[in-house]
Amino acid sequence: MTTSERPPAVKKPAAPKSPAARKTADKLGRQDWSSWPHYDAAASGFRGYWYPVTWSSHITGDPKPFTLCGEKITLIRDSGTVYALHNRCPHRGVPLSEGNQQFPGTVSCPYHGWTFDLPTGNLSAVITDGPGCRLTGKLGVRTYAVEERIGMVWVYIPVADEEPHPIDEQLPEELVSNAFVMGGRIEPRGGNWRFACENGFDEGHAKYLHRTALWRLLKPMPTWNITRIVPQGRWIYRVQDEVHWEADFPGVGRWSNKRWWKKQPPKETFNLGNTGKTDAVDPVIEAQEFPGFASLSMPGVLRIAYPKFIHYEFYVPVDADNHRYVGVMVNFTQGWDTLRFYAKYLGAVRWLFHGQFSGQDAWMVDVTDAPPEKLYRPDVSLTSWRNLSEEEYGKKLAAAGVTEATTQEEA
Ligand code: FES
Ligand SMILES: [Fe+2]
Repeated sequence: MTTSERPPAVKKPAAPKSPAARKTADKLGRQDWSSWPHYDAAASGFRGYWYPVTWSSHITGDPKPFTLCGEKITLIRDSGTVYALHNRCPHRGVPLSEGNQQFPGTVSCPYHGWTFDLPTGNLSAVITDGPGCRLTGKLGVRTYAVEERIGMVWVYIPVADEEPHPIDEQLPEELVSNAFVMGGRIEPRGGNWRFACENGFDEGHAKYLHRTALWRLLKPMPTWNITRIVPQGRWIYRVQDEVHWEADFPGVGRWSNKRWWKKQPPKETFNLGNTGKTDAVDPVIEAQEFPGFASLSMPGVLRIAYPKFIHYEFYVPVDADNHRYVGVMVNFTQGWDTLRFYAKYLGAVRWLFHGQFSGQDAWMVDVTDAPPEKLYRPDVSLTSWRNLSEEEYGKKLAAAGVTEATTQEEA
């Protein structure tokens, strides 16, 4: 068993500190994440959620391997339906994804031909032991619930043995009942999924890290903001109360991201998009009445609302050291306008936004090393997210009737 497959342990909250110890801790910053024990334990992801794994079009009758929340799974399509099985043959541990289909509705291990029924995972035949094999029907591999939504295959990773909740309860609400076109990227990235998620909602970084991104070549980014976090439904929102485009730093100098070739920043504070206000807002986006342009929900879904489109990021846990970045841009349009969207997406957005801009995030996520950490004012975005996940996950475990989640590597 590798470290990443170890069942996540739930730590007890730390004992109260003495005033002297607290003073030292204040100076040094936060030494660990013991204030958020569920979050701290979720290095390989929160269980009890649906996760997007890959594009639907990638899953065919040829089984493919994936790691999700530390669990090895294989995805295979049969008669149009996608199935997810634990990717380990119980005989000698060979990945079933190395095998193929010998009979309809099954997958066979490449080594000795143990053959598993796709809907149930049951061992339905053992080719090299003949039709009378006594193991047939007596064992099997674990299966996982699968859904296909927004062009992707989603797999549910259970807390215990519970039935999954409907996936629509977990998708961003506006994607459930509106028509849209989309473009996106799914790519494996280094770094823990929590660093990726925190980076996505991090209030302080975009205006500084991304100031050099080509995506922002013609639009300035603010220097600093005053931001609040507002909970609404199952989301938390970053709401901008003040946007400062330049600042004088005493004894150091003036700093601004404004340049003569960039658009002039707007005078008023705005809460849709991060570079300014637009008159015409897409009616579907307007109808959502988002309190702020950046929002986050469990189990790590970021939504950035712009006047004409919404960008989503799903931070999918692979194991403690790797995650899968799923970046999707959605435009609530139909008919001829979809052509304009695809031209814009394929010609620019895919390379500038989901490519180079997002690559700056990937770089930071890969090199982040915390805790310890000394948080600063804008990091209220991070602590609010941790508080949200702590609370939501506590409720989820209680609902599942367990005190801690365990990995379910064997069926
Ligand atoms: S290892 Fe799978 S059939 Fe032998
Ligand atoms: Fe970023």
